[in-house]
Amino acid sequence: MRAYLKSLAMAAPALMLGLAACGNTPSVSSEPAKPAAATFPLGSAAVNAERLIAADSEPGSWLTTGRNYGEDRFSPLDQINDTNVAGLGLAWYADIDTERGQESTPVVVDGVMYLTTAWSMLKAYDIHTGALLWAYDPKVDRKKGADACCDVVNRGVAAWNGKIYLGALDGRLIALDGKTGKEVWSVQTTDTTLPYTITGVPRIVKGKVVIGNGGAEYRVRGYVTAYDSETGKQLWRWWTIPGDPSKPFEQPELADAAKTWNGDNYWKIGGGGTVWDGMAYDAELDLLYVGTGNGNPWNQKIRSPGGGDNLYLSSIVALDPNTGAYKWHYQTTPGETWDYTATQPIMVADLNYKEGKRRVVMQAPKNGFFYVLDAKTGKLISAEKFAPITWATHVDMATGRPVEIPEARYEVTGKPAIVAPAALGMHNWHPMAFSPETGLVYLPVTVSSATYASPEKFELNLDGWNTGITFTAGPSVTPVAAGGAAPKTEAYLLAWDPIAQKEVWRVPNVDTRGATGVMVTSGNLVFSGNHAGEFVAYDARTGAKLWSAPTQAKVVAAPATFLVDGQQQVAILVGARGLPIGQKRTVPVSANNSRILVYRMGGKAMLPAEMPTTTATGEKVTVKIDPPLLTANNETVASGEGLFGQNCAVCHGATAVPAAGSIAPDLRYSALLASRGQWNGAVRDGDRAQRGMPGFKASLTEEQTDAILAYVIKRANDEKAAQEAAAKTP
Ligand code: HEC
Repeated sequence: MRAYLKSLAMAAPALMLGLAACGNTPSVSSEPAKPAAATFPLGSAAVNAERLIAADSEPGSWLTTGRNYGEDRFSPLDQINDTNVAGLGLAWYADIDTERGQESTPVVVDGVMYLTTAWSMLKAYDIHTGALLWAYDPKVDRKKGADACCDVVNRGVAAWNGKIYLGALDGRLIALDGKTGKEVWSVQTTDTTLPYTITGVPRIVKGKVVIGNGGAEYRVRGYVTAYDSETGKQLWRWWTIPGDPSKPFEQPELADAAKTWNGDNYWKIGGGGTVWDGMAYDAELDLLYVGTGNGNPWNQKIRSPGGGDNLYLSSIVALDPNTGAYKWHYQTTPGETWDYTATQPIMVADLNYKEGKRRVVMQAPKNGFFYVLDAKTGKLISAEKFAPITWATHVDMATGRPVEIPEARYEVTGKPAIVAPAALGMHNWHPMAFSPETGLVYLPVTVSSATYASPEKFELNLDGWNTGITFTAGPSVTPVAAGGAAPKTEAYLLAWDPIAQKEVWRVPNVDTRGATGVMVTSGNLVFSGNHAGEFVAYDARTGAKLWSAPTQAKVVAAPATFLVDGQQQVAILVGARGLPIGQKRTVPVSANNSRILVYRMGGKAMLPAEMPTTTATGEKVTVKIDPPLLTANNETVASGEGLFGQNCAVCHGATAVPAAGSIAPDLRYSALLASRGQWNGAVRDGDRAQRGMPGFKASLTEEQTDAILAYVIKRANDEKAAQEAAAKTP
C-alpha cells in the first residue's frame, strides 16, 4: 500500500454548515464520486467483534477512538508517507458550534465520521462530501458544567451493531441509530445527586457497553459498568474502592482493598478512583483493562489518616469483560496524595524482546513513569521515568513499588513541598500512539511542578472541589523542593522505546506548552497538533518536521486516518480554550475556531482568513453570544469597569474587546459568565494560571471580582443588543 494513488480527484464540495463560500474554491472533481468502498451501506455502523478484532485488516476505517481493541492508534495506511506528505492539503472542513475544549477522536466507519464536541454533542458527516448527515444534542443542563473539573469535554463515541454510543456529561449512556441519530435507548449510569460526570469513551466488548465516569475532585466513588448494547440493561458493575463499611462488599476483592484504607473520611467523601479515561481490551486473553483515578480528597492524610496503599486507586486493573470479575491489578502510585491518576490511555501490544515476543500492557500515567506490564498476569516487566519527576527516584523491581522521595509527602512531613509533576501530570489524557513498525511509543509530555501543602483545617465542600490541599506554602513559609530543584516547565513530543525504556527523540513545543494527542501511520509519519495552531507530520524515526498546516485553533485532540474511495485522508478536531497567539476568530459559531479539518493529497480547500460576514446563501452571519441577564446595579458595573481597565484590559482588551492579535479570549463570549463559581476558579483561584490566565485572589477582593463579572456581563449584553439591531437592519 506504499504506492501513492494517482487518482487524486475527488469531490470535495466543502459543505461547511452553510458557509461554503468563505473564500474557498471547492475543488470539484472531473470524475464522479465513487460509492463507498465499504461493503456496508452508508451509516450502517455495522461494527461487530470480528471487525474489531480484525481492525488491522480494515485500515480504511477507524473503528474505535483508539482504532483497535489494543488502542495503539497506529494506522497501517501508507499512501500518505514521508516521501510525499508535503503534498497534503485541506480537503474539507466544518465549523463546530461549541467553543469549549474539543477532545474527541473521530470514529470512521461505513462512510460516516462520528465525532463528539464539547457538551457531549455528536455529529455525523458523510466522508465523501463532508456533508453533515445528522447531529445529536443530549441537551445537558449547562449547570452540570460546574461538576466538570476540566471543562465540559467529551472524547468520542463507540460504534456497534448499527448503533452509536455516547456518554453524556450528566452521566447518561445513550445509544443512537447510526443512520439517523435517533435515540434507541438511554440510561442514567450515575447517582444524579452526586457530582459524577462522563467525558470518556464507551468501549464495547461482546455486545457489552462499558463506561466509567469522573468526579474525583469532588466527592464521588469510582466504578465502571457494563450495559447490554441492545437494551441498555445493566450487566455488571465493578467498584474501584471500598464503600460504606457497614454495608457488604460489592465484590470479594474489596475486602482486601478495605485493609489498605483508614478512618471514615474516604467513604463519606467518596474516596475517588474514578475510571474517567483509559481502557483497552485484549481479545486473545479476553481481558478488559481499566485505569483508575486519584484519591478523593487528594491529600491522603485527610482521606486515609495513617496512610495505606488505598487500593485500587491509581491502578491498572484487569477485569473479565463477561462478568466484571477482578483478575489482577498493578498500582502505580500507592497511597497517592498528588492527584496522580492512572486513568491515562492504556495500550495492548506485542513487544519483540531479545528473549522473544511478549504481550504487554503499556501506560504512561501522570506520575511520570512509563510502565510495561505482562498482559496476562499484570506482572511488572519494566518502569522508567519518561520525564524529570521529583516524587520518587525509581521503581523497585523486586516489589514493583515506587521508591518515594520523603519530602514529597507534604501531608506526612507537615512541610509544604514543591513536587514534580503537578496535578495535571507529565502525561494526561492526550492519546499516545505505538507503531509496531518502529517499535516506538509517541507520547505528548508536559513537564510541570507545583506546591502541595496541607490546609490548617479541612471542611467538606458539597458544591465544589475537595482536594484537601492548598497550593501555596502560606505567608512566610518557604516550601521544600522535593528531590532538588523543580524541573523547568516545558512540553514536548517524545518518541520512547518501550523495550529499552529510553528516549529516542523529542520535539519541543517551543512556542506553547500544552499537550496534544498523537497518531502514527505505516507511512513513517507521526501526526499531532499543537497549541500554536498547527497540525504537523513528523518523521516517525527521526522526529523531523515534514509537513504542517495552520489550524487557526489550539489542538488538543488526536487525529484519525481512513480511506475515502480508496484514497487516504486524515482528520483532526481542533479547538481548545482560547486562541493561538495572534490568531483572530474566523468561525461565526465558535469563539475558539472549533472545527473538524480533513486533509487529503492535493487538497486545495482554504480556511477563511477573516470571520465571514455573510453565509453562502447571502444571509448575515450572526455571532452566537449568549450572556446571562445583567442583575447588578450601575454603581457595581462602573466600579467593575475601572477594575477591568486596571487588571484585565492589558490582555483581554480595553472595554473587554480584545485587540487584533490579543493573546486572551473575548470574555463577552465566555460561558463562565453564567457561573460565578467557575468564573472565580479562573479569575480568583488561578486554575488556568498555566495557560496564561493569572489568578487574582491575592490582589482583588471577591466584591471586586464580582464587580468585574458584572461589567463583562454588561459588555456582553451590549454586544448582543448591537448584533440583534444589526440583524434587523436590512
Ligand atoms: C496576562 C494576561 C491576562 C490578564 C492580565 C488577564 N487574563 Fe484572563 N485570560 C488570559 C488568557 C491567556 C486566557 C485564556 C486561558 C486559557 O486558555 O484557558 C484567559 C482566560 C480568562 C477567562 C476564561 C474565559 C473562558 O471562557 O475560558 C476569564 C473568565 C478571564 N480570563 C478573566 C479575566 C479577568 C476578569 C481578568 C482581570 C481581573 C483577567 N482575565 C486578566 C490572560 C489574561
